[in-house]
Formats: sequence, C-alpha cells, structure tokens
Amino acid sequence: MRVEEIKRVAVVGMGIMGPDIALACAFRGYGVAALDTQQESLERARKRLEANIRFGLEQGIIDREKADDVRNRIDFTLDWDRAMDHVQYVTEAVPENLAIKRDVFRRIGKRCGKAVVVGSNTSSMGIDEISAEMRFPERAVVTHWFIPAHLMPVVEVVPGRNTAAWATSLACDFLSGIERRPVVCGENPGFVHNYIQAAMFRAALTLVEEGVCSAKDVDAVVQNGFALRLASIGPIRMADYAGLDTCLNLFKYVHQKTGDDGFKPPGILEEMVARGELGMKTGRGFYDYSTEEVERIRKEADLTVLESRKVEEKVKTA
Ligand SMILES: NC(=O)c1ccc[n+]([C@@H]2O[C@H](COP(=O)([O-])OP(=O)(O)OC[C@H]3O[C@@H](n4cnc5c(N)ncnc54)[C@H](O)[C@@H]3O)[C@@H](O)[C@H]2O)c1
Repeated sequence: MRVEEIKRVAVVGMGIMGPDIALACAFRGYGVAALDTQQESLERARKRLEANIRFGLEQGIIDREKADDVRNRIDFTLDWDRAMDHVQYVTEAVPENLAIKRDVFRRIGKRCGKAVVVGSNTSSMGIDEISAEMRFPERAVVTHWFIPAHLMPVVEVVPGRNTAAWATSLACDFLSGIERRPVVCGENPGFVHNYIQAAMFRAALTLVEEGVCSAKDVDAVVQNGFALRLASIGPIRMADYAGLDTCLNLFKYVHQKTGDDGFKPPGILEEMVARGELGMKTGRGFYDYSTEEVERIRKEADLTVLESRKVEEKVKTA
C-alpha cells in the first residue's frame, strides 16, 4: 500500500490520547473511525474534540468551515465492524495493558487486510509482544504520540524484530503527511523521549529529596533555564554549543563529588575531546559546523528564548 491510498483510518480507544490523534488525522483530511467500548468514553471524546475546536477558533488556527469539516470526518462509534470497514491505517490507543492490547491487535489482524499498517501508542512495550497473536504481525509498529497529540509534532516510531521495513516506512509517510515528525528509534525502555525525561525527573527528585531546593525552585530553574531554548536546540547540539571539553569537565567534577555513576563521563565524549572535536568552536562535534551555520543556530536559539518568554507574558495577561 502507498500512503496516497490511505483515505480512512481507525483510532481504537477514545481515552486521553485517542481523541487528539483522531483530530490530527481528521484535520489533514482523513475520514476517522473513532472506536471505544464505552459510551462514556465517546461522550468525553466528543467534548474533548469540541474544546480543541474552540481553542483552534480562538487562536485563529481554524475557521468555522474547517471546524465543521473536521467534525464531519470523525465517526465516533462502539461498533467494531463499522469502525474497521474500509480503513487503510489503524492506530491503537487502548490502556497500557498487554492482554488488552494483544486482544485488540488480534481482532484488528483478523478484520483488516495484510497491507493495513497498525500502530500502537504504547508508552513502554515492545511491538512484537503486542502483535504476538496477530495475523500478519509484520505490519505492526509502535507509533508513540505525545500529549497533546494534535499539537505535539514528534511521534516515536519503533519497529520490532517482526516489523517489515515497508510498514515502518508507510507509518512514517502517513505521519509526515499529517504534519508529525516521525523519528525511528530502536527498542529501549522508555524509547527516547521518556528515557530522557525519566533521567531528568530522577535528577529533579534527588535535588528535592536532598534539600538542595524546593520542587517549585526546580521547576523555576528548568522552565526559565534550558527549557526556554530546547525547541530550537536539543541537548546534544547544546553540548556542541557549550563546548564538549566543558561538558566533559562538568561530568568529571560532578562524578567525583557525588560518586554517582550516572555522571561517569560517557566514553564517546572522552574520545571526541581527545580527538579535538569540541563542538561549534572547532567546527566539529556531534555535528559539523561552518561559521554561517554557527551564527544561524545561535540566532535561532536566541529567537526561541524570546518567543517562549512572549508566550509566558501572553498567558499571564490572558
Ligand atoms: N496519557 C498519556 O499521557 C499518554 C501519552 C503517550 C502514550 N500513552 C499511551 O496511549 C495509550 C492510551 O492511553 P490513554 O491515557 O489514552 O488511556 P485511557 O485509559 O485514558 O483510554 C483508553 C481507552 O481505551 C478504551 N478501551 C479499552 N479497551 C478497549 C477495546 N478493546 N477497544 C476499544 N477501546 C478500548 C477505554 O474505554 C478508554 O476509553 C496507552 O498505551 C498509553 O500508555 C498515553
């Protein structure tokens, strides 16, 4: 199947994540079957859709015509057969419970043709486990969205050993087509996003537990610190910007003082510094840099900080 052949999709599970994923698909012109087993979930999902539409209208992201179009594209249903009729792509967002997910994948497998890719929004599980009882498990792949799914661009795409390359590509093409940024990564507990977030959360809690500062002050430091520029410069490019030698020295010092092996300097960093690859200042680090590129990145980081601070002001005065 080619991405152009996808016209109608199903989103299974209308809890916290499902309605926003359905909206992201409908917004880009797909017909969406929004399936759940509970009437209350469908009612909440409808309300959530209306709240999102109101926000879109307030912010000028959509007009009334587009709002009606989106509403008309989403078919909220409890009827499994109706939902799976003529769909060319499925996303599952049922609870994080292996037995439930397995059963849903088994049912989708029986009902949908072998070219229909099925993405799982699991936050933690391997796709091979989830698709273990499915017909044609090679079309199953993790597609992990983030809350609020209709606004957050990144979707982690995690193939398993049984996932076919064509299924991963098709999932990426579909996601790119609805203006997401799919990032394919290997299987890892917490994938990429939650692995990094968990490390940060652990450090934040240690600071609070040890009385270094309050929870409020941890949040203040992060929100008014690196969080402000993260939208334009990720942690690895940021290390290139700061200087990899400086980062290495910081690791060594914190490791020596705390004895916490989590701060043991990573071998890759020591090797790069030994080779004189110190980041932007030497033109090579984890990325290569020309002088113009360095200027562009600095400007983008500065602009991101300014824009984030404007949002903060806007929210305060709203
Ligand atoms: N909540 C988050 O912040 C978040 C973020 C990223 C990923 N996820 C993942 O997304 C998935 C869904 O999470 P959620 O928070 O939306 O869950 P949720 O519990 O809010 O919603 C799950 C929905 O699935 C429905 N459901 C249960 N069994 C079903 C079945 N057999 N067929 C159809 N619908 C069924 C339930 O009635 C419920 O409405 C989980 O795997 C979770 O780990 C959650």
